Amino acid sequence: MNTGKSEIISNENFSTDYFKIQFNAPHITITAQPGQFVHVQITTLYDKILRRPFSIFDVNDNGILTLIYKVVGKGTKILSTLSSGTFCDILGPLGTPYSLPGIDEYPVIVAGGYGAAATYILAKRSERKGVLLLGARSTKDLILIEEYKQLGFDVKVTTEDGSYGLKGLITSLLESYFDTNDNGKIKLYGCGPNPMMLAMVRMATKYNQKLQLSFDHEMCCGIGACYACVIKVKDSETDNPWKYARTCKDGPVFNSDEIFI
Ligand SMILES: Cc1cc2nc3c(=O)[nH]c(=O)nc-3n(C[C@H](O)[C@H](O)[C@H](O)COP(=O)(O)OP(=O)(O)OC[C@H]3O[C@@H](n4cnc5c(N)ncnc54)[C@H](O)[C@@H]3O)c2cc1C
Ligand code: FES
Repeated sequence: MNTGKSEIISNENFSTDYFKIQFNAPHITITAQPGQFVHVQITTLYDKILRRPFSIFDVNDNGILTLIYKVVGKGTKILSTLSSGTFCDILGPLGTPYSLPGIDEYPVIVAGGYGAAATYILAKRSERKGVLLLGARSTKDLILIEEYKQLGFDVKVTTEDGSYGLKGLITSLLESYFDTNDNGKIKLYGCGPNPMMLAMVRMATKYNQKLQLSFDHEMCCGIGACYACVIKVKDSETDNPWKYARTCKDGPVFNSDEIFI
């Protein structure tokens, strides 16, 4: 984990509420792993002591870090107005990463909304290309379809309002996928809103599948010191059925059989 001032190279609106921002951040890119995140101090935000967490969407060998973010509140609104040449302090890479699929494993990535940004490096670094099951409320929340296709992934889409792909929840598509899969041994990954992640944990149990999930939780310190970001995981060491785990330090990626529901 490192911290450092990083210059914004570009910051562009690429789809309704979504922006792509690029930083010169070799201190992050050199060790970034799939599923890790950065904690960005948004210059000019009055309470800038509270950083904002974003998944590492992509990195390259020239030290360029790319994030995809949705404008949802005051921090991301201000971030969207920052122009190239501005410096932000970036802490990272943070959190536990996804593990890559083995060469004999077919990766099945299930992503909701901007969750697809968190799994892109995983897809890029997977030797075997697989399928992305992408869910969103409606067309305006669908991102990165072409980017995944360019990596060689098959992309299947659901929207809750039926405006693109199949109408319904992405977890229903996953369930039918389990019933029809003919790709042999699969390795399952998920990233999206927490209700979707918990539904996936139940489904993984039902189908006896292992799954790696990334949990999105409000954060404060981002480095494991404050316990603002906890979720419940199984406790195998004491008589208690569960204990707290920090999504910033023990996660954000967890194995589904660790999660207490
Ligand atoms: C590990 C991780 C990875 C993430 N990756 C992405 C990503 O790639 N792209 C993206 O668009 N968003 C991502 N998010 C969500 C993003 O951090 C929030 O949307 C953002 O912090 C909202 O800030 P705001 O000031 O605009 O919103 P406000 O609602 O004004 O924020 C108020 C406070 O709540 C916190 N907060 C609000 N919503 C969230 C949230 N969903 N998760 C965590 N903290 C939140 C903020 O840090 C801030 O302290 C990620 C969150 C986590 C935990
Ligand atoms: S945000 Fe402080 S421990 Fe996770």
